[in-house]
Amino acid sequence: IAIRREDYAAPAYWIDTVDLTFDLDPAKTRVLNRMQMRRNPEVPVQPLRLDGDELNLARVLVNGQGASFRMEGEQLVIDGLPDAFELEIFTTCCPIKNTKLMGLFVSEDTFFTQCEAEGFRRITYFLDRPDVMAMYTVTLRAAKASYPVLLSNGNLVEQGELPEGRHFAKWVDPFKKPSYLFALVAGKLVAREQRIKARNGKEHLLQVYVRAGDLDKTEHAMNSLINSVLWDETRFGLPLDLDRFMIVATSDFNMGAMENKGLNIFNTKYVLANQATATDADYSNIESVVGHEYFHNWSGDRVTCRDWFQLSLKEGLTVFRDQEFSQDLCADASARAVKRIEDVRVLRTAQFPEDAGPMAHPVRPDSYIEISNFYTVTIYEKGAEVVRMMQTLVGRKGFEKGITLYFERHDGQAVTCDDFAQAIADANPESELARLLPQFKRWYSQAGTPRLAAHGVYDAQNRSYTLSVVQSCPPTPGQLTKEPFVIPLNIGLLDASGRELPMQLEGESDVTRGTRTLVLSRAGEQITFVGLDAEPVPSILRGFSAPVILDFEYTDAQLLTLLANDPDPFNRWEAGQRLGLRAALQGIAALATDTTPVLNDAYIDAMRSVLRNPQLDAAFKELVLTLPSETYIAEQLDVVDPQRVHLVREAMRAQLATALFADWQWAYEENHDTGAYSPDPTSSGRRALAGMALNFLCLAARTSGDVVWPGKTLQRFKDAGNMTDRFNALNALVSSGNTLAAQALARFHAIFKDEALVIDKWFSLQAGASDRGGDILPLVKQLMKHPDFSLKNPNRARSVIFSYCSANPGAFHRPDAAGYVFWSERVIELDAINPQVAARLARALDRWSKLAEPYRSAAREAIARVAAKPDLSKDTHEVVTRALAGN
Ligand code: ARG
Ligand code: ZN
Repeated sequence: IAIRREDYAAPAYWIDTVDLTFDLDPAKTRVLNRMQMRRNPEVPVQPLRLDGDELNLARVLVNGQGASFRMEGEQLVIDGLPDAFELEIFTTCCPIKNTKLMGLFVSEDTFFTQCEAEGFRRITYFLDRPDVMAMYTVTLRAAKASYPVLLSNGNLVEQGELPEGRHFAKWVDPFKKPSYLFALVAGKLVAREQRIKARNGKEHLLQVYVRAGDLDKTEHAMNSLINSVLWDETRFGLPLDLDRFMIVATSDFNMGAMENKGLNIFNTKYVLANQATATDADYSNIESVVGHEYFHNWSGDRVTCRDWFQLSLKEGLTVFRDQEFSQDLCADASARAVKRIEDVRVLRTAQFPEDAGPMAHPVRPDSYIEISNFYTVTIYEKGAEVVRMMQTLVGRKGFEKGITLYFERHDGQAVTCDDFAQAIADANPESELARLLPQFKRWYSQAGTPRLAAHGVYDAQNRSYTLSVVQSCPPTPGQLTKEPFVIPLNIGLLDASGRELPMQLEGESDVTRGTRTLVLSRAGEQITFVGLDAEPVPSILRGFSAPVILDFEYTDAQLLTLLANDPDPFNRWEAGQRLGLRAALQGIAALATDTTPVLNDAYIDAMRSVLRNPQLDAAFKELVLTLPSETYIAEQLDVVDPQRVHLVREAMRAQLATALFADWQWAYEENHDTGAYSPDPTSSGRRALAGMALNFLCLAARTSGDVVWPGKTLQRFKDAGNMTDRFNALNALVSSGNTLAAQALARFHAIFKDEALVIDKWFSLQAGASDRGGDILPLVKQLMKHPDFSLKNPNRARSVIFSYCSANPGAFHRPDAAGYVFWSERVIELDAINPQVAARLARALDRWSKLAEPYRSAAREAIARVAAKPDLSKDTHEVVTRALAGN
């Protein structure tokens, strides 16, 4: 049942036009689908096979005549068709029972669709594959009182009344598209509207549709959309190609959002925000996701994927574009660097483990059982890094030329990752990318995170410094050996006092200043820098110029120099992370941790200097002062005892709290007042640092018995003028286990009981809280009995179950295995409701084979229990069988 990339064959038929008529009814929706089709002359004559899933078929007409057909599994098969014909199919489906949230479903009395990747076949029989592109006309009919708003892709061309209180709307999409970009929405919605003029003078109507009570939470999404339209025109010359562009929010959604042509459908989490209900992080996510879906209009909709193995063609490129968008909206270099560090943190804490585990796959996979399982951090985030490396190799201007050529060549087509890389290279024929293109494309075909082992030797006699770099990549499922990658390595050299040194490579006459990009392509290479009076401190992999792990035996002194001075903010942050990681690993290795402090004075002093440094922005300080996560620390170990990792990291946090107590007080006083609320990077950075300070002050109070700061924190919680400050204060009380937490939590629930997204935060904070003596699992079970809990709503299920199983390792990995038993029960339970959500949860134990005993055996047993369940969905089945195959 695995689908393989090498088996790709062009479709046997094309669909030129689709005319859909929906009679919307929650229990029984009728769908009339009239298609103009023709045989693809380039493939041998064969029967037409249409995909379907959970449909009730009523009638099939070919050129208006009843036709004979047969069912092969879920496929509708018709033989003996002429070369061109009209095919009419009449089916019904049941949206109200659609808990999978794929195809047509009902959420809070409103109809929505989700068709990517293979949901359209749950609406009608179709060639449900992205290389079949058609022109769509859609007529929606429904009871007017219950469904006053009727939306689909493109332009509204007609609307009117029908008998018995029903009405209709007819939509025509002026662009051909694959079925996964189809969408409809019908229900009681209201819209924020904005007319904008593009650079070419064309007017567009932008709309954000939500439920009536939520209109006051749409301003930020609308502003983000306006910024997106302007940015894509300015940076890449890509204009909005529709008269009307709509965003609609639903509270029941499997993913973040969906780029349906002209009618983006979003999880409410990535649309709704006002200062009372949304945090700075929410504001920033909304900006990214609105941008992401909008940018898909070109990178995804105008040029789409030939097949689903090419998913990163649109997702990697579009993540890269949304990352660049958010960076370009930043006012200064520091804010840009903060965004870059945040993106790299996601890559390293989520994608690196994926690349090292049983679900590892190339950016362009070779096979899958269920494509939904491949909407992964590898396809998205690593895919974006691959695009970023191309930009690094051809330069920013060269990359813009490449994008222009890509859209000129492929507009209106369904293409491959090869086509994309070729266009970028062809637009830059003199570039290193063009020279090394076939080798560069190994980033698409080889899974696993490459490792760079670097080693430096100073030669005083020749005043030279030689850096040897050896690259390797561990085996991954189905790929035992790897060929060398092309790695753009950004590098700078500092002297011992932290000043940037001019750089001259051996055999070159020019001397450069600042960062240089070296291009590695061999298994091992040596780079010699000349004209150096002393051994330099190398600042390697600046800006994280490639998605690799860099091993270099920095001394503590070198790392302290980089942390204090590196002009590259990424590596400045990275030096602090390396020091923190080193301390954590030493603490974990030394079994007598309880008595010896984990952090040394030099580290604490360096952190104090960063915190007190008037030259640095608050947002950057907050990142430096954040210790590497438990997940990231665990990845560095061959055998992981999660309780030990948790214990040591908590000890480090307690030490930072106490040793920097006066500094945290100072930082809080300096940063806590950010004036009138605005989610800009500067003030959100100050709120983040003030929140961190409160957190440490409450933590310190835990050991000192201080009641002043917890009291102040409770007061701040009560008085807060925005959700960021309020939530940070609540978090400080909860995560320090303070006795005031209970009343704050109760108050928080009472204030926000009608705000679903805030109640998600309330659940998530508790399920993700630091474990003390195994208290979180019983709490999680309690939370699942709360009247507000529902397993059917993905956001709510994630806020409790994922917050515990995937985001709280210290609480989840219990020596008594009860966390794993809970996990297996929830996976099985969710699988019957929503396989996509279940399969996501199933991945919480991806890294089970690294665990120390007794965790390892218990985790394996829990996975085996899930795998043994009969009638498991393809989604969950693929995840658990791959996990078990891992060892
Ligand atoms: N294309 C969407 C996005 O990244 C996500 C699609 C969700 N896919 C799914 N199988 N649920 O913007
Ligand atoms: Zn996307």
